[in-house]
Amino acid sequence: MASITLNHIVKQYGDGFPAVNDVSLDIADGEFVILVGPSGCGKSTLLRMIVGLEDITSGDLEIDGKRVNDLAPRNRDLAMVFQNYALYPHLTVYENIAFPLRLTKGQYSDSEIDSRVRNASSLLELDEHLDRKPANLSGGQRQRVAMGRAIVRQAQAFLFDEPLSNLDAKLRGQMRTEIARLQRRLATTTVYVTHDQTEAMTLGDRVAVLRRGVLQQVASPRALYDQPVNLFVAGFIGSPPMNFLPGRVDGDHLVVPFARIPMDERLRTAIGSRDLVIVGIRPDAFEDADVVSSDKRGDGVTFDADVDVTEWLGSELYAYVPFETDPAVQKQLEELDRELDGEGMRTQLVVALDSLSSIRDGDAATLWFDPASVHVFDPESQDSLTRDDDKAASIDADAAKARQRATARAKERAAREDAAAS
Ligand SMILES: Nc1ncnc2c1ncn2[C@@H]1O[C@H](COP(=O)(O)OP(=O)(O)OP(=O)(O)O)[C@@H](O)[C@H]1O
Ligand SMILES: [Mg+2]
Repeated sequence: MASITLNHIVKQYGDGFPAVNDVSLDIADGEFVILVGPSGCGKSTLLRMIVGLEDITSGDLEIDGKRVNDLAPRNRDLAMVFQNYALYPHLTVYENIAFPLRLTKGQYSDSEIDSRVRNASSLLELDEHLDRKPANLSGGQRQRVAMGRAIVRQAQAFLFDEPLSNLDAKLRGQMRTEIARLQRRLATTTVYVTHDQTEAMTLGDRVAVLRRGVLQQVASPRALYDQPVNLFVAGFIGSPPMNFLPGRVDGDHLVVPFARIPMDERLRTAIGSRDLVIVGIRPDAFEDADVVSSDKRGDGVTFDADVDVTEWLGSELYAYVPFETDPAVQKQLEELDRELDGEGMRTQLVVALDSLSSIRDGDAATLWFDPASVHVFDPESQDSLTRDDDKAASIDADAAKARQRATARAKERAAREDAAAS
């Protein structure tokens, strides 16, 4: 296991385009870091530079404090798992897993290889498939074989490039929890590329958000969700995405298309002398006013909305409320939406209500939200004006503590197992 440090890493391809632009990131020993961002933002390029499949144009890459820019991939001792598992069709599962050990020609005895393969196969529940060929396996089983191949090497770190994107939704969910469990158990430093929201939010200790090759924010999932630094991060993290609305200042109120939000000290300080801002409200910040308790209701903003469409998902009810946007911010929001791979449907409010809500398609509904949950962004710089650095730091500190506990438990367990085995 090892730490991985990126220092001002730049990648320019032949055409001079900076696919990765001045990225600095410290990945601690045993940490699980997720890289996310829209298609083409440089995720795979960054991963390939770490493993050594791609030259680094400038900057330093360090593994455990040693600069490895010029080290060949096989000498970096990192294990990569790709989206298309790249298994050898003519080899059995056993031999596929053993392959990286056989490659080292004599470094491992047959009995060492056998014990490592069997250890990996039992971790991944592949014992009964060891004699089969990859073609006869399900997608999830193949993915596990690919992970087995990474595990046997006991490499310094795992690098995953969208390993689950070829699987159907159910299997993806299962494999996701398996990867989380495995990483906790082995406590191997892991960098994991995805553009799946759920994977990004659930798997990692920290998530790094990339936009056109530039790192926007690195934080624990909770801090990213709660305290995004800018419009891009706010819009990228969360599903359904954060609602963005034009907000005009009118005296003591911030006026959004469907409501007047009374400005408290926090909002007044954030907005300063601006008269136009972009307001961000997460879908889950809204409630059906009819189900909000009366004492809570008074602290929030209540408004009438003509609900267009509703979607009932069992645990939640999504309601869509169209609104007219303000031409002054329309262009910024449309551009942002394109960048976020969106479908250009930003002029409707999406609210996630309690599934018990009786609101249905076409209803005139009364909705509620708490102004404390409102984010405000500068329309020019797109920076968050409401972000609370102290709060973000304390959320991250809690997450780091949780990780340390998990890593310590994994090490204790490994030590116990080693003791039992010898
Ligand atoms: N070999 C190459 N030569 C020139 N440009 C490249 C090369 N590989 C990637 N690029 C460019 O670098 C940028 C980043 O590509 P990269 O594959 O790292 O994106 P990504 O974030 O992994 O995207 P995706 O989510 O679609 O996999 C893109 O603009 C891409 O066109
Ligand atoms: Mg990619």
